[in-house]
Amino acid sequence: GTLKKTAVITSQVQLTEDVFSMWIQDNQIAAAANPGQFLSLYCKNGNRLLPRPISICEIDKENGKLRLVYRVVGNGTEEFSRYKTSDTIDVLGPLGNGFCLEGKKAILIGGGIGIPPMLELAKQLNCEKKIVLGYRDITFLNKEFETYGEVYISTENGSTGTKGNVIDAIKANGLEGDILFACGPAPMLRGVQAYAKETGIKAQLSMEERMACGIGACLACVCKSREKDHHTNVNNKRICKDGPVFYSDEIEI
Ligand code: FES
Repeated sequence: GTLKKTAVITSQVQLTEDVFSMWIQDNQIAAAANPGQFLSLYCKNGNRLLPRPISICEIDKENGKLRLVYRVVGNGTEEFSRYKTSDTIDVLGPLGNGFCLEGKKAILIGGGIGIPPMLELAKQLNCEKKIVLGYRDITFLNKEFETYGEVYISTENGSTGTKGNVIDAIKANGLEGDILFACGPAPMLRGVQAYAKETGIKAQLSMEERMACGIGACLACVCKSREKDHHTNVNNKRICKDGPVFYSDEIEI
């Protein structure tokens, strides 16, 4: 179940100019968490009532800790980036439906701030793995993925790896798999969805970039699903509640 807790920050480091990595301690949330789920973090500043949804990057069940790697995009995340070891933070989670662990030859695809949730997935997926990471230019977390599989990188300017996007890197390296897992911005997910259709490979897509409140209250995250709900006769899905992970043929991006 979902819990609202006051967690203790056990470390925080800066990875790039605007990407931070924070470990928090909460035994119960860590015990319940799965790859692809997220937490909602509350600001201490009372003017910011809505919590900020942040994906789970790593789960350390043994020590009751969770790792969050996030980008500073506004006042809320800027406040989080100033927290120090032993500060506390109110968190709600774990939230959403994460990845389903399946397949024999997986291709894990992360783009930008969609990369962090792929790390715990890479750890837990017990099969052959190719990992494709897409960046604008500055890389982060890529070294940590090397423990779990072969890593391929794409950058927009070609400064590291393949010049272009994650699909360009998959094609340039002739990568093959029987399942795709992806998290990233909408244009990237649209590309993965098209690639999955074209090749007939099954794909799980995490749409977390579109979340706002993270708790089903604001409806900012609604996307169109391909099937109608028999009870309500609507075909909308809330990314934060029904997702953030969907099968590629279930949704319109
Ligand atoms: Fe607010 Fe989903 S993010 S309802």
